[in-house]
Amino acid sequence: MKKLFSGIKPTGKIHLGNYLGALKNWAELQKKYNCIYSIVDMHALTIDIHPNELRDNSLKLAIDLLALGIDPKKSLLFRQSDVVGHTELAWIFNCLTPVAELERMTQFKDESKRSAGNVNAGLLTYPVLQAADILLYRAETVPVGEDQLQHLELTRIIARKFNNRYQRYFPESKPIISPARRVMSLKYPDKKMSKSHGEASYIAIRDDEKTITKKIQKAVTNERGILNLLELYSYFGTQNKYKEMMESHKAGKLMNLQLKEELIKVILEFLKPVQEKIAYYEDNKPKVEKILRDGGKKAQRQADQTMSQVKQLVGLK
Ligand code: AMP
Ligand code: TRP
Repeated sequence: MKKLFSGIKPTGKIHLGNYLGALKNWAELQKKYNCIYSIVDMHALTIDIHPNELRDNSLKLAIDLLALGIDPKKSLLFRQSDVVGHTELAWIFNCLTPVAELERMTQFKDESKRSAGNVNAGLLTYPVLQAADILLYRAETVPVGEDQLQHLELTRIIARKFNNRYQRYFPESKPIISPARRVMSLKYPDKKMSKSHGEASYIAIRDDEKTITKKIQKAVTNERGILNLLELYSYFGTQNKYKEMMESHKAGKLMNLQLKEELIKVILEFLKPVQEKIAYYEDNKPKVEKILRDGGKKAQRQADQTMSQVKQLVGLK
């Protein structure tokens, strides 16, 4: 089976945008790939985050991933900072990456604007660490959201530079984009669902019934908003019901209230077993810690192999 790597930052609550745009795919890809999934806590240090919050977020994220179907029997699940090698390889890649390539990254430009008082060097070299995450395992496949395509392109550039300068060693990793490219905000229907646009914009997978009901009831229902709600329904509801509501929307007969009620119902149905699993792991945190430790140990073995060969190739050994 081909190797696959992906990472997610522990920077806050997981919402349906993350699930549909990334994590659902992560779970499904376990059938076809040798999957390595990482909670990339070192990437989270590029933003101003309190140490307790970072620790807490990382464990919560691990719980959410397990509840959403990441199976430690099939895949490796680990904390990036538990494996020695990510930053070491990133340094070697830093020395191959033109600064101009980093300065033109959209995410760097956006983040620098957003955190104008904290444009740290980590923000600039963020995609180099990302390339190291992927190539430390020589992963050929990387499921990501659309916004990460540019970073994947840079990962391939870095692999090519290494291969040309030293020896053909790293694969040129290819992205896989999930079918739900952009799940939209409930409050601002022309923006993507995101933590940064406020509580009312997203449904977190840990939101309770009352909160979800209120958020959907308050969702904006201009033309774009209704189409978003219908699209959201299509992911969780039945295809027949979706088609029926779409037809009736086109005929100008769909009642917003009915659409919202149907949507609340299917989302609650989907989240019920997920939240039961979350509650289970919340009560069994040592189990989660063990899963992360075991995943880290296995990942470390693969990382050691790569680093030993890389050090030989670049002349550090
Ligand atoms: P973030 O929350 O921005 O760190 O994103 C984590 C993962 O979820 C990335 O792979 C994103 O591409 C994906 N993602 C986040 N928000 C959305 C959204 N609204 N629609 C689709 N995918 C998303
Ligand atoms: N930059 C990615 C994001 O913001 C997270 C990430 C870090 C990642 N390392 C990775 C994704 C390696 C895929 C592969 O979503």
